[in-house]
Amino acid sequence: MYFTPHLKENLEDFFNYKKEFSVLNRVAKEGKMAVVKGPRRVGKSSLLKVVYSLYEGPKAWLDGFSVRNEKHFWDLLELKLRELLLSSSIKQRLKDILSRVEIQGTSFKVNVQVDSILESEKVEGLLVIDEAQLLSYYGLARWLAHAYDHYSLRIFISGSQVGLLEKMLGRSKGGETPLKGRLIEEVALKPLDFTKTRIYLIEGCAQIGKNISESEIKEVYENVGGLIGWLTYYGYYRKFYDHSYSLQKVREKASEIVAEELENLLLATDRSYLAVLYAISKGFNHWGSIKRFLEIEFSLALSDSALKRRLDKLCDFSLIEKKERVYVLADPLLSEGLKLFF
Ligand SMILES: Nc1ncnc2c1ncn2[C@@H]1O[C@H](COP(=O)(O)OP(=O)(O)O)[C@@H](O)[C@H]1O
Ligand SMILES: [Mg+2]
Repeated sequence: MYFTPHLKENLEDFFNYKKEFSVLNRVAKEGKMAVVKGPRRVGKSSLLKVVYSLYEGPKAWLDGFSVRNEKHFWDLLELKLRELLLSSSIKQRLKDILSRVEIQGTSFKVNVQVDSILESEKVEGLLVIDEAQLLSYYGLARWLAHAYDHYSLRIFISGSQVGLLEKMLGRSKGGETPLKGRLIEEVALKPLDFTKTRIYLIEGCAQIGKNISESEIKEVYENVGGLIGWLTYYGYYRKFYDHSYSLQKVREKASEIVAEELENLLLATDRSYLAVLYAISKGFNHWGSIKRFLEIEFSLALSDSALKRRLDKLCDFSLIEKKERVYVLADPLLSEGLKLFF
């Protein structure tokens, strides 16, 4: 069933993205590290969950959203690694090994015993770190480089704030360096195009015993775009309501969710960043027109470098994308959340 709002775990509930699925499966079998990137609601966590559920070895899942502070991060990481070890084939010998491990200094805050066992026993398994960019401040990149060089674990990392994730991987200017040059497979999830959106809606509606007309499909795509998370919400409402009311419900839901995400942006920046986003949502999408809009609408005069900083940050947070030479919203429903601020 496609139109259920929770993360998908079973392959039969999971639409499309077969190529991305097979890349991750291959890395899970014989690779080392993979990164899954893409804007919110494109389906990253679901893709990872499906691969994770099918993975038969020891495994653990760490969600960056659930981490409160640096200490909590290292405690949680250690707990997850212990969980993984306890489900591995060395479980029986673990007590014995733990007493043999020499305690020595390590620059990581993961317990030295856990670290040594992972390294010396070459334990295989899968660790998923979702929304990993949120953990970069705590030194995740250094730990990942250490794990890459010394462990036999497969590690998948994923994140919605693509620019921040790339900095953590050492792939962009001014980014971190520990992971630079390591072979990390990349899976970039993109929203569905119109053709795929159409199939998703038709198949999903058939599963819930509803029909959807061609004009309704068009209207959904024009209003919601191809992010599978919003399309799934539409389908979920469609079980109970007609087309127009379902669309309205998706907009209401989006405004609630997006407003919360924009509040988080405000915590990290200031209102002028939202103003730039607002200008782009109104269709002012290149330098000159954004600057003029800000001056007229908000009496806000930004220098070129100040505007560039704001555009770069909005790209880092995957709120906007640069397409050719213009900026566009990464998600058309961001406008719904912006309405609450202006
Ligand atoms: N391939 C898919 N097939 C069906 N539904 C999906 C698929 N990917 C995501 N979804 C739905 O969309 C919602 C958002 O997806 P999620 O995996 O949370 O995206 P992300 O992690 O990129 O923010 C999920 O709750 C799920 O119900
Ligand atoms: Mg997610």
